[in-house]
Amino acid sequence: MSQNKVFVTRELPAAALDRLAQHCELDVWGEFLPPDYAILLKKAQSLSGLLCLLTDRVDARLLAAAPQLKVLSNMAVGYDNIDVAEASARGIPVGNTPGVLTETSADFAFALLMAAARRIPEAQRYIKQGKWQTWHPTVLSGRDIYGACLGILGFGRIGQAVARRASGFGMRILTHSRGGSEERILAAGAEPCGLDELLRQSDFVSLHLPLTESTRHFIGARELSLMKPSAILINTARGGVIDQAALYEALRERAILAAALDVTDPEPIPLDNPLLRLDNCLVVPHIASASVATREKMAQMAVDNCIAGLRGERLPTCVNPEVYASR
Ligand code: DGY
Repeated sequence: MSQNKVFVTRELPAAALDRLAQHCELDVWGEFLPPDYAILLKKAQSLSGLLCLLTDRVDARLLAAAPQLKVLSNMAVGYDNIDVAEASARGIPVGNTPGVLTETSADFAFALLMAAARRIPEAQRYIKQGKWQTWHPTVLSGRDIYGACLGILGFGRIGQAVARRASGFGMRILTHSRGGSEERILAAGAEPCGLDELLRQSDFVSLHLPLTESTRHFIGARELSLMKPSAILINTARGGVIDQAALYEALRERAILAAALDVTDPEPIPLDNPLLRLDNCLVVPHIASASVATREKMAQMAVDNCIAGLRGERLPTCVNPEVYASR
């Protein structure tokens, strides 16, 4: 009997790949950059499993080209790169990696918040440009974090983990979450709040929403205009949640003080994107979950999902459990 073929779209930590190799004929993409869509399309024809990353677009066309596909395992908690509805229609379970990256991602969201508030990247540039001549009462003064008001949009695992960190800083925490229960919000020491009120009152606004059709450009010109001129916007969710053209205008006109972005639209952000010319916009390359330990756990979890799918078992973390209803 021929073995299940699995394509892994990037080199993962060796322990995870070794384990997967025991269950299939493994093909690992060894390049630094992701495989082109055309390559994915070609490989898809003979695959039983695809272990992909958020850089790989898995759309209806690709799924149609993969008649033997039993499992799609995304090494990320977010899965907006995958047409899940189409996978469900084809009965293909889709796995993701929730939980293991929560604390690491929340640490990073808070690191961005602090770096922007206390102007750390600017301070480093200041020294490197030879500008440090003396201690000065006003130079590089930033915003206090302790006691400030933090608005969290999206109160899932990561949003709640950010709230825990904010509590330690004595922050007032407001949250606007369409799905979240009021009890859960209050138990986390946060206050439920309407979107507009949250934007008006917050000194910091941190985004933790998945990217869907209804959250695309969730923060646009109107929302930015409601924020305080002293407010700082942090995005570790997905670039598409913000209308970047509107953000650029708001930052340029100092309608808000600053932004710190781990994610952009598109990724990577083109070097000529005007956001990169602004002093009040900190941009880093989608690294919120990038700790060695967390990336190892994500890889192992993605492998667990892949192996379960090859065996016809329920994926430990499945984003479309409806596929099992019809079985
Ligand atoms: C995710 O998992 O969705 C993050 O964006 C990358 O870790």
